[in-house]
Amino acid sequence: MKIFTQKYPRMIADEHEAQACIADFKSLCNGRNVYLWGANTIGKHFLELFDDFGVSVSALIDRNAVKIGDVDGIPVREASLLKELTADDILIASANPGNFKSMQTELANINPGLHLEDGDGLYSTLKSAYCTLRSKSVILPVGFCCIYCFNNKRFIDCETKIDNIKKNKEHTETSGGVDIGFIDVSIGNVCNFNCKYCLEALPYIPKNERKFYDAKTVISEIKQIASVAKFVTHLGLSGMETFLHPNLAEIISEVKKIRNIGVIEVVSNGTVIPSPKLIEQLRDDWVYVSFSNYSQCLSEKQSTKIENTYQLFIDEDIPFAKTENATWLDMNSFEFCDDREETLVHRYKNCPRAKIVRVNNGIFYVCSHERAGVVRGFFKPEQVGVDIRGLSADELKEKLREYMSRPFLYACNYCEMPFRNAIVPAGEQLE
Ligand SMILES: C[S@@+](CC[C@H](N)C(=O)[O-])C[C@H]1O[C@@H](n2cnc3c(N)ncnc32)[C@H](O)[C@@H]1O
Ligand code: SF4
Ligand code: SF4
Repeated sequence: MKIFTQKYPRMIADEHEAQACIADFKSLCNGRNVYLWGANTIGKHFLELFDDFGVSVSALIDRNAVKIGDVDGIPVREASLLKELTADDILIASANPGNFKSMQTELANINPGLHLEDGDGLYSTLKSAYCTLRSKSVILPVGFCCIYCFNNKRFIDCETKIDNIKKNKEHTETSGGVDIGFIDVSIGNVCNFNCKYCLEALPYIPKNERKFYDAKTVISEIKQIASVAKFVTHLGLSGMETFLHPNLAEIISEVKKIRNIGVIEVVSNGTVIPSPKLIEQLRDDWVYVSFSNYSQCLSEKQSTKIENTYQLFIDEDIPFAKTENATWLDMNSFEFCDDREETLVHRYKNCPRAKIVRVNNGIFYVCSHERAGVVRGFFKPEQVGVDIRGLSADELKEKLREYMSRPFLYACNYCEMPFRNAIVPAGEQLE
């Protein structure tokens, strides 16, 4: 098992390597008992993936075994089972990556010498290999699938999305453009929620600074970036509760006209009923609506609102994606890490959030953590991001190329991603 994770990188984008990796994993598991230590969300994601691979799991192991009983028909057993495992068995940590070290220590006391596989690394490797094969020739930005499917059960199948991206890409890829695949554009900073771990750090913005960004400015920023990009695989409209923006319909209608963009995704918390004008703009093959379901942390009243919004989309026959039982990564820690340069380079290279570009009010950030740090007052605006306002196409290309080719970001040294961050409930509200 050790040999397996050493052999393959955390993210696999090459089709042949992806094929070899999955075949290798399947042959490794063949004839051996596979155990998942951790029966919660991450354990369930492993089960789903292994089910697709045809790899069967003998049991999950969890301290709440009695309470859980079984997961999808696979028995959940107490930690005492660890004593009985042998070197022939495969044991994978399917728990919060932050607990991996303490699990290793616990195992060393119970069954010394037994190998515990780092589930976080293994999942990432296998899932990216799996998604690479599904996406075939489309070059997805690193993290596309992990961020989009890792915790999410979606109504819209990835393949539909990927097919649309392919069709568009064939027509509009421009040579000599900057490689910016995945952009999230903030259209304002107004929200009806106060999510404690919001990656926009939105609840921490003083009330008197909250506003809807001007639609014309948002549209011209998107045009400016698309004009220097090779091909924008995915453009997300986000940054606030999007359905609250009074001119969202106009923004979508204009963005649809921009060549060079694969799909447009509108992300909403689902609590705001869109206007008929907006509904018409959302009814489009190139637009995807994603609802973040925070019902585990919300009141019954809020959950009912979300259900009403889903119903409207069903009645209007507009497909949508929704997340279920999602967990988030705590990206709101800004403690100085004091990591060595090689560690920073390694973390940046393996970080699924890196290169999910965030454009907020004229500033281009390679990662949302940079923007959140400015909001929280940990970074000065001049330490992170590129101010795109007033730049010519050539100046913009040069600045973005330089910024995106850095070995790591200033913000990475003030961040726990991707190995040390805690997993937190999605949508937990600030008191
Ligand atoms: C910032 S929200 C804006 C859109 C809308 N207000 C919403 O919550 O869906 C954009 C996306 O970021 C996700 N998100 C926010 N904070 C996150 C975190 N700490 N970890 C992972 N995803 C996060 C949300 O679930 C949502 O899919
Ligand atoms: S994650 Fe929560 S606080 Fe942040 S924009 Fe979405 S709903 Fe608002
Ligand atoms: S700042 Fe954090 S989230 Fe962003 S790329 Fe660096 S390690 Fe990843």
